[in-house]
Amino acid sequence: MINNKINIEQNILESQNRIISRIRNNNAVEFNNTGKNKLYHIVTYGCQLNNADSEILSGFLNEMGFMNTNNINESDLVVFNTCCVRENAELKLYGNIGALKNLKKSKPEMIIAVCGCMMQQKHSVDTIKNKYKHIDLIFGTNNVHVFPELLEKILNEKNTIIEVIESKSTIIEGLPVFRKDKHKAWVTIMYGCNNFCSYCIVPYVRGRERSRKPQSIIEEVKNLALDSYKEITLLGQNVNSYGKDFSEPYDFADLLQDINNIDGIERIRFMTSHPKDITDKLINTIKDCGKICEHLHLPFQAGSNKILKLMNRKYTKEEYLYKIEKIKKALPDIALTTDIIVGFPGETEEDFEETLDIVKKVQFDQAFTFIYSKRKGTPAFDMKDSITKKEKHKNFDKLIEIQNEISKKINDTYLGKTVEVLVDGISKNNLNRYTGRTRTGKIVNFSGENNLPGELVYVKVKEAYSWYLGGELHDTKSYPDDETVF
Ligand code: SAH
Ligand code: SF4
Ligand code: F3S
Repeated sequence: MINNKINIEQNILESQNRIISRIRNNNAVEFNNTGKNKLYHIVTYGCQLNNADSEILSGFLNEMGFMNTNNINESDLVVFNTCCVRENAELKLYGNIGALKNLKKSKPEMIIAVCGCMMQQKHSVDTIKNKYKHIDLIFGTNNVHVFPELLEKILNEKNTIIEVIESKSTIIEGLPVFRKDKHKAWVTIMYGCNNFCSYCIVPYVRGRERSRKPQSIIEEVKNLALDSYKEITLLGQNVNSYGKDFSEPYDFADLLQDINNIDGIERIRFMTSHPKDITDKLINTIKDCGKICEHLHLPFQAGSNKILKLMNRKYTKEEYLYKIEKIKKALPDIALTTDIIVGFPGETEEDFEETLDIVKKVQFDQAFTFIYSKRKGTPAFDMKDSITKKEKHKNFDKLIEIQNEISKKINDTYLGKTVEVLVDGISKNNLNRYTGRTRTGKIVNFSGENNLPGELVYVKVKEAYSWYLGGELHDTKSYPDDETVF
């Protein structure tokens, strides 16, 4: 059975590789004739899992001889990798593909493809089919591994092609990945989600949990280390349920320990963790493994037990706070971040006060806050609201105000201290400054000279805001042992 599966995967890879060679040859011939490369542009919405898929699409396209461009107008191929976690993500897509109608009219040979989570929903595919007839190719999250095949079809047939596999139980290893960053990498360790939080569309569009084999992940990280990558972020909708689908006992903590032993990698991050799967073993592993960064993203979503139950989150407010207490005790330097939903159906003012209570008690470094968005096909879709839209917005604003104050207060404690920063590059907001992150995940913008992406430097913090820190490069690149370093 297992051998059979490996054969099927190998066959898929081999047939994609044959197609890649054909398209590459055609592109080379075209380049000889016209002197121009075929250009592609990928727009990615949503979470890091979509980014990881876009890196595979980029990997395929580079192998086929396409070149990346930031200019959508000059592209021969545009791919929109979509998200449907909230309504505004969907509206953004419709706005952006609508805006391309005229460009497609003036450049009919341009190919526009739409893929990703939204395309796993039949009603979204129907909307595109009916209202956005200039879209050439539609495919889902389960079809990414056959992208070359789909592209070849559309290059040959010119009719709209729709290919959405409803569910997938296998994982195809060995796909090409093109990472823009050369110092930090996202590594998907598992796909799908089994939790079925009642508001969430993800389990329907990403399928059931499937963990990659530890050997495949470890090999990928070893190769990244050989390529001088310093930081890796292990990705999954619920990373701490990694391995539950294995027959042999091997869990997320085991994986972290194995990755911690890989030479060359300096920082290990992971997201997202589910509170119900935070174990003592995991907390101790974070404590014992020096490369695991002092940051935990632990969404609590809502504070009231009534709402948590309606959300099907599988923990109570008290259990969440108990776990946080344990984490803080074992890891006093840890930065905590979270996700919160405001205005879930049935949430009253009293329920919302319980959310604020958690925010005040835990003192998160940062919170990502969302107003509840109805998702077709989820159990919460038909649930009724207890408060008005206006009241939801008022609560949302209040939550942000309180959280911003807390974030600022925590960031103020960094003032005067020296922090280790992994440099990401030049700051987008101030071209005279560099930007990077501390181990605790804080953005630090700083002045300095010739700091290359991927360098680990020490920065003295001189400014603190709710969302970032500012500072100056410390005069030494060695460990400044006279000061506190996070
Ligand atoms: N798997 C992760 C994150 C999933 S999506 C987790 O379980 O934490 C990221 C965040 O989007 C969620 O944490 C949640 O806060 C928010 N979210 C998901 N569905 C939503 C919806 N229907 N409306 C508003 N926010 C939503
Ligand atoms: Fe969605 Fe819940 Fe799964 Fe996160 S754990 S992806 S919120 S269903
Ligand atoms: Fe969006 Fe899909 Fe991620 S719905 S949040 S891109 S898993």
